[in-house]
Amino acid sequence: MNGKKILVTGGTGYIGSHTVVELQQAGYEVVIVDNLSNSEADVVDRITEITGNSPKFYKIDLTDSDALREVFVKEKDIFSAIHFAAFKAVGESVEKPLMYYRNNLNSLINLLDLSGEFKVKNVVFSSSCTVYGQPEKLPVTEQTPVIRPESPYGNTKRISEEVIQEFTIAHSGFNGIALRYFNPIGAHPSALIGELPRGVPNNLVPFVTQTAAGLRDQLKIFGDDYNTPDGTCIRDYINVVDLAKAHVAAISRQVNGKMRNSFEVFNLGTGQGASVLDIVKGFEKATGKKLNYTMAERRLGDVEQIYANASYAEKELNWKAEKTLEETLKSAWEWEKKLRNIE
Ligand code: NAD
Ligand code: UD1
Repeated sequence: MNGKKILVTGGTGYIGSHTVVELQQAGYEVVIVDNLSNSEADVVDRITEITGNSPKFYKIDLTDSDALREVFVKEKDIFSAIHFAAFKAVGESVEKPLMYYRNNLNSLINLLDLSGEFKVKNVVFSSSCTVYGQPEKLPVTEQTPVIRPESPYGNTKRISEEVIQEFTIAHSGFNGIALRYFNPIGAHPSALIGELPRGVPNNLVPFVTQTAAGLRDQLKIFGDDYNTPDGTCIRDYINVVDLAKAHVAAISRQVNGKMRNSFEVFNLGTGQGASVLDIVKGFEKATGKKLNYTMAERRLGDVEQIYANASYAEKELNWKAEKTLEETLKSAWEWEKKLRNIE
């Protein structure tokens, strides 16, 4: 047990809940803050069922600075905050940009403000490969230029990284790590926690599992005329438990004082690109389920291909993705089955 206390904002969400499990299993004490705008309270019980250890939970909106202050007053000696809490639907952010800037930026500003006041010295931030747009050169390294993302959602990630970096400059001794996730998929092997999209899923894998479960008639593959080997888009799909473990590695870098700069960035991917058809075929192979799918028009705003060079995280965080695509797709299916009571 190292016992250090970690504040996890958005800790009942998809990636947050998996990270809470890994943190607890690594011996950290976890305090979750979430307003349940995109998650359910019973996730706390599910985490407890997996780890045998109940995380503290505050149902609080991070844009409410007074409410968040109460948490800092009650929870002394927070070592680091992992900041997952944000809205994340790309299409919705185009329709409601202010809602995204208000939630994602005000939450971060409140968190940093109170971190400064209560002498919390570290933050780990959920960023996204969306900050690279469609890169000219693949795979993407941390030196690949950041461009202005296409969506307000993506832009909140780019701006948040800058805000954290500027905060570290202004506050000597404060450390920030931005983790740029590629495409997180899959679920915990217990099938007790996983992704819970509300309404019709926008993302590929939840749409695939819901189609296999009979909730959706047919998967549409958005574009088969891209300049890729099979004509469909390529992404770097990373297992959510592997991703969660990278957060523990980032915290341990802060605990051990190993940061090279007060602000650091890491790409978190597998280093392997997979096409949409690879996902469809991989899912069928991993689960023995046939998927009803069809080719459709390209989706506006999609980049053709992106995948990570994951070597910097491997060298510096001593972390790499370990799970295969097939076992990850199987875990997504096991989660969906349990959710829908399918045998
Ligand atoms: P999620 O929606 O499952 O989790 C986010 C959590 O934050 C939810 O539980 C929600 O209730 C909470 N939340 C949102 N606004 C809040 C507020 N103002 N106050 C308190 N709680 C609030 O999303 P996720 O997939 O787990 O993503 C976590 C983070 O990772 C987000 O910042 C997201 O933008 C980022 N990210 C996700 C992906 C992905 O594909 N899932 C990819 C790149 C980056
Ligand atoms: C999207 C966001 C990205 C965000 C990520 C996680 C866009 C442009 N990008 O990534 O900023 O960080 O979600 O929330 O929205 N696909 C289909 N049929 C479907 C669904 C998806 O063919 O029904 C294809 C897409 O065209 C894409 C791939 O599957 O090629 C992955 O899509 P998705 O899961 O939505 O993730 P991204 O678009 O990569």
